[in-house]
Amino acid sequence: MRFYLGLATTFHDPALALVGPDGTLLFAEATERFLQYKRAPNCEPDAPARIGPLLREYVPPGSEIVVASTWGPQFSGFLKGQAQAGTFDLPVLAAHPTDLNASFVPELAERVFIADLHIAQERAGYGTLLALTQDVRTGGAPPRARITGQRRYPHHLCHAAYGLWGSPFSEATALVVDGMGETGASAIYRLAEGRIEEVKRHRGRGSLGFLYGLITDLAGFDQVKGEEWKIMGLAPYGRPDPELTAILARLYRIEGTRVRFADAETIRDVAAALLARRPADAPERGWADLARCGQDLFGTLMDALVAGAHVLAPHENLVIAGGCGLNSSYNGRVLQRSPFARLHVPSAPADDGNAVGAAWLAYQEDHPGWSGPPAGARPLSPYLGARVSTAPMERLAEHERRARRLGHEGVTREAARILAEGGLVGWVQGRAEFGPRSLGNRSILADPRPVGAKDALNAKVKYREGFRPFAPSILAEAGPDWFEDFADSPYMERTLVWREAVRDKVPAVVHEDGTGRLQTVTAARNPAYAALIGAFRDITGVPVLLNTSFNVMGKPILHTAEDAILMFYTSGLDALVVEDWIVVK
Ligand SMILES: [Fe+2]
Repeated sequence: MRFYLGLATTFHDPALALVGPDGTLLFAEATERFLQYKRAPNCEPDAPARIGPLLREYVPPGSEIVVASTWGPQFSGFLKGQAQAGTFDLPVLAAHPTDLNASFVPELAERVFIADLHIAQERAGYGTLLALTQDVRTGGAPPRARITGQRRYPHHLCHAAYGLWGSPFSEATALVVDGMGETGASAIYRLAEGRIEEVKRHRGRGSLGFLYGLITDLAGFDQVKGEEWKIMGLAPYGRPDPELTAILARLYRIEGTRVRFADAETIRDVAAALLARRPADAPERGWADLARCGQDLFGTLMDALVAGAHVLAPHENLVIAGGCGLNSSYNGRVLQRSPFARLHVPSAPADDGNAVGAAWLAYQEDHPGWSGPPAGARPLSPYLGARVSTAPMERLAEHERRARRLGHEGVTREAARILAEGGLVGWVQGRAEFGPRSLGNRSILADPRPVGAKDALNAKVKYREGFRPFAPSILAEAGPDWFEDFADSPYMERTLVWREAVRDKVPAVVHEDGTGRLQTVTAARNPAYAALIGAFRDITGVPVLLNTSFNVMGKPILHTAEDAILMFYTSGLDALVVEDWIVVK
């Protein structure tokens, strides 16, 4: 039996995915979860301590494993050329300036980026090999599996494969937009008859992802920590400043549906001009006006790229993939601003999702008749990660009488009651979400009705900036009554506008501009979570919960029941539910 191990090998957000002999996606997880190290920079996705137990769980003895990774062979050639040209000049890397005034030097940034990618890509599969070897050493048995192939796929093709084959569409156009692929930072693909065809790969160093990262840094945040989303959160507090807009306009030219980005010197000039105008408190509070102008600029450039995709690959179905697909504010508006009629953005559009794309590409290479998962498995469930053990809850109950096993109905009723009384509930169920958003399986939940709920949650648990909005989970059937131009949003992939009349019913999840980054919940997609929201609605009349990821600021989403128990006792959570267990303070 042959299994396909997909490895996302960019220096940030590594991940792994396992596809079985029939093409089923068995498992997908970002490396940060197991390591509990946010974004896991420069970490191998198949660390032996992770991949060993996974292979024992999913791969029967005597199997084959094909390792598929997310940068193409073209990239190796590119790297060799760069190396010969002296790009990996270590003194230059060591001298990489750290102060903001000088830090965005695109040539240097690119060298660091390429050198880091090189390391991650070159070692893809070594962890797996080591884990298989350890099996032999420790058990004296033959290896569980043999690695019978190592394949590489173009970076943007991996984004597109995960986005398209994970979508509900049998035909669609995919627009990939991120920091950088092998040759450029965006690409267009087409899905037809189960096969994915490259329509166009943009070439050159210009990158909307990097540009948004630059704005993130200049606005007082840190793109290395993945703080781009703070721009989206802060933007509604800023005003469209014509002077800032004029400076930012020097960064690009739109010619028809083509976007041309400025050269490195102009980017440096623009950064300097913006820094000269930056308010002194930007590093503490963020620079709201720049966030607003930067988010508006992002929309303008995405509009051009989306329009270009429709010209080259006209269709009604659009898939957006790549890290820029995390811009839920833009995703919520794209259908009003383009000729496309339907949108799918996967739960992990950034580089972690590529692990799935690579594994599926390898699978199709061996099974040319395969045309993606069957209709019943699409759109792809986001619940693809690890389960937690309830054994820690059992141990807890030995000396904590408030830890009780009430069964699923019991904990649902109890959690709904606590939420309706204003309590904060940590909620851990089933398999972990794949992607950055908590979708009701690793979530902290709260009542969205009190005006002060957001501040209370920040003060008691999340410890994050006050401007960042909290997201609502809503029963899908209630969506049209609560949102204008309602559309299904199972992965919190889009931000929509709350109906005017309902905003004061759920103030804690209405952002400054009247929007909410919603998750639409159905019993088919997540029965436990739908039951909880339903129970809350029965008490309060409101089919909405405030849903935020189960982590503290700067840490990844939890991975084990022990992580959850630790957070329960070191934060202001009022109750913790793990499967059918509950503990209250
Ligand atoms: Fe990417």
